[in-house]
Amino acid sequence: LAPKPLADKRVVVTAGPTREPLDPVRFVSNHSSGKMGYALAGAAAELGAAVTLVSGPTELSAPTGVERIAVETAEEMLAAVRARIGGSDLFIGCAAVSDHRPEEVPTHKRKGKEPFALALTPNPDILAEVAGLDPGPLTLGFAAETHEVLAHGREKRAAKGVDWIAVNDVTEAGAGFGGDTNRVTLLGPEVEESLPFGTKREVARALLARLAPRLA
Ligand code: C5P
Repeated sequence: LAPKPLADKRVVVTAGPTREPLDPVRFVSNHSSGKMGYALAGAAAELGAAVTLVSGPTELSAPTGVERIAVETAEEMLAAVRARIGGSDLFIGCAAVSDHRPEEVPTHKRKGKEPFALALTPNPDILAEVAGLDPGPLTLGFAAETHEVLAHGREKRAAKGVDWIAVNDVTEAGAGFGGDTNRVTLLGPEVEESLPFGTKREVARALLARLAPRLA
């Protein structure tokens, strides 16, 4: 059997949406299915890595051999990542983290039919925090863009200080939220490569094939 390229590596992946409570029975969230992140976790495990998948609520089952930590809010996701990131080799931030959360969460269900204003406060940027760790793992982030895709991806890579960004044009058919296929362009220190359109599992394998030599 050929040695697996990530056999002695630890990989932490975030996936899925976060849910930010409005009160004990309501939340704000987004349409992330978690499929791309789960595909990445599965592909890293196939290559022999020890994988921790920190996942917001999804309908997916954990890929074979992957340790899953279920979280709901961005703050819970950050805490789970912090608890697991030490000594890891690669961090993949694929979660659709809610950029904001309700500032105040009443302990009782909100009542009444009157209009009310909801104050939102920014959530921590998990990917940027991990990218700033020293020593820290190599980092791959995702950028879902609707226009000027490469320019925004390059800006995001620099702003967050990550090693790689995989950008995708969410207006392209078959490359948005929820589907089983994707097309990404990998932006990194030595590469700007448009990867072939494929299933999320195929795209995940292609991405990890590009990253694995840098982890060695
Ligand atoms: O800034 P934007 O949300 O477009 O960045 C997307 C990338 O940053 C994704 O890799 C996502 O997982 C990560 N991110 C994060 N924490 C946030 C917001 C985004 O880790 N609060």
